[in-house]
Amino acid sequence: MNELEVLGPKGLPITGNLLSFRKNPLEFLQQAAREYGDIVHLRFGPRHLYLINNPDYIKDILVTKQAHFQKGKGLQVAKAVVGEGILTSEGKHHMRQRRLMQPSFRQNHIKLYADTMVNYGEAMIGQWQNGEERMITKDMMELTLAIITKTMFGTDIKENTDDIGHAIEVGLKYVSRRASSFIDIPQNIPTRSNREFKEAAQTLDRVIYSIIEERRKSKEPSRDDLLSMLLAARDEEDNTGMTDKQVRDEVMTIFVAGHETTANTLSWTLYLLSQNPKAEEKLWKEIDRVLSGRRVTFEDLPELKYAENIIWEALRLYPAAWAINREAIDEVEIGGYTFKPGETLMMSQYVMHRRPEYFERPDEFHPERFEGNLLKEIPQFAFFPFGGGPRICIGNHFAIMEATLILVTIAQKFRLRLAVGHHSVEPEPVVTLRPKNGLRMIVEER
Ligand code: HEM
Repeated sequence: MNELEVLGPKGLPITGNLLSFRKNPLEFLQQAAREYGDIVHLRFGPRHLYLINNPDYIKDILVTKQAHFQKGKGLQVAKAVVGEGILTSEGKHHMRQRRLMQPSFRQNHIKLYADTMVNYGEAMIGQWQNGEERMITKDMMELTLAIITKTMFGTDIKENTDDIGHAIEVGLKYVSRRASSFIDIPQNIPTRSNREFKEAAQTLDRVIYSIIEERRKSKEPSRDDLLSMLLAARDEEDNTGMTDKQVRDEVMTIFVAGHETTANTLSWTLYLLSQNPKAEEKLWKEIDRVLSGRRVTFEDLPELKYAENIIWEALRLYPAAWAINREAIDEVEIGGYTFKPGETLMMSQYVMHRRPEYFERPDEFHPERFEGNLLKEIPQFAFFPFGGGPRICIGNHFAIMEATLILVTIAQKFRLRLAVGHHSVEPEPVVTLRPKNGLRMIVEER
């Protein structure tokens, strides 16, 4: 697109808007959307990006005209961690993998996981001492990691979870940095960051390959989890199975995509509740009415609507996936403008979810807003925490179920408060949106 046609914030001569973006991405994008409207031109060094702020245009990109786009640079960089798994692959390969994996994520299949989720949630709070201070962000990360590993791969984590946590942290920071930079230092040059990344990737590979190896050696009759399906899959045309590398890429994808996002959503939820005692009170009433002290099950979920709406509201205010990109692969018209191949279009959940046109008092926590017909009244892509179209999050129902069950399990027994003298809680957009420097909270028995 001719950059003169669309306006955007003025940048510096060489780096363009990159430094202002990096300094505070969320505020920068929100401000740009406010000032320049539906399509904003941005430049990161030589790269031209367009921030798209109109929900109908977002629908065109993700659904109606999705065939003209591929995933943006960020996810191509993520291939360094997850290879050619379902999150990063394109075209026919992606469609085949998606078709293969979809059954493991259907409603009637994931309900089998509810019990496991609650078991792990109960085991976690079983270790909490009344009145102690906990690093809640770490607790949530360990919990969702254990849940994804058990439900999808039928095993428990054997490696030290601190090492895994550190490796994922290094991987995400690396991907995030490379995705927004415009100088691509090749990965094989031994810079400090490349070396650290390589070590992290090796740790994760060790974990993943040991999970696959354990299952291949296992004499047990085959189970019906995702890993068994991947190992048993045969190509319709030539009847070949997946190579070790292909299985590794899919397992790594689910391992990474399937826990960090939900962990952050839970952390934000617990933080928001600690700041909103009225909502907390209402949640307790719902839990006590529906469960009368017994443990939560899948069948209770339709009755626990306030709890679920708390999760939706947390995903609105702090969407774990805070922005997604697409790159045009051929000329394509969006909102009256023609984009050229290679141009990047950016859509930000964080920006859209806080637009006052769609959400009254958008910065306030108000789960009740989801009780009426809100989602039918606003344009479809004003609220899109899980993306949309053929690449919509495959784990969306899994994530909402898991987050609701864990929230209920925690809130049934505990109330959480920020630790005394806690730093001010700010969102940090790395690959996902997380509370910067973690959350330290006091856990009190109710
Ligand atoms: C609250 C939690 C979650 C959020 C906010 C979230 C968000 C998203 C979003 C926005 C996308 C689309 C990315 C794009 O279009 O560029 C996506 C894709 C994906 N998510 Fe999630 N996700 C969550 C949980 C999960 C879970 C629990 C799993 C697996 C168990 C998962 C697995 C995936 C996979 C495999 C894809 C790629 C799908 C494809 O390209 O076909 N996610 N997620």
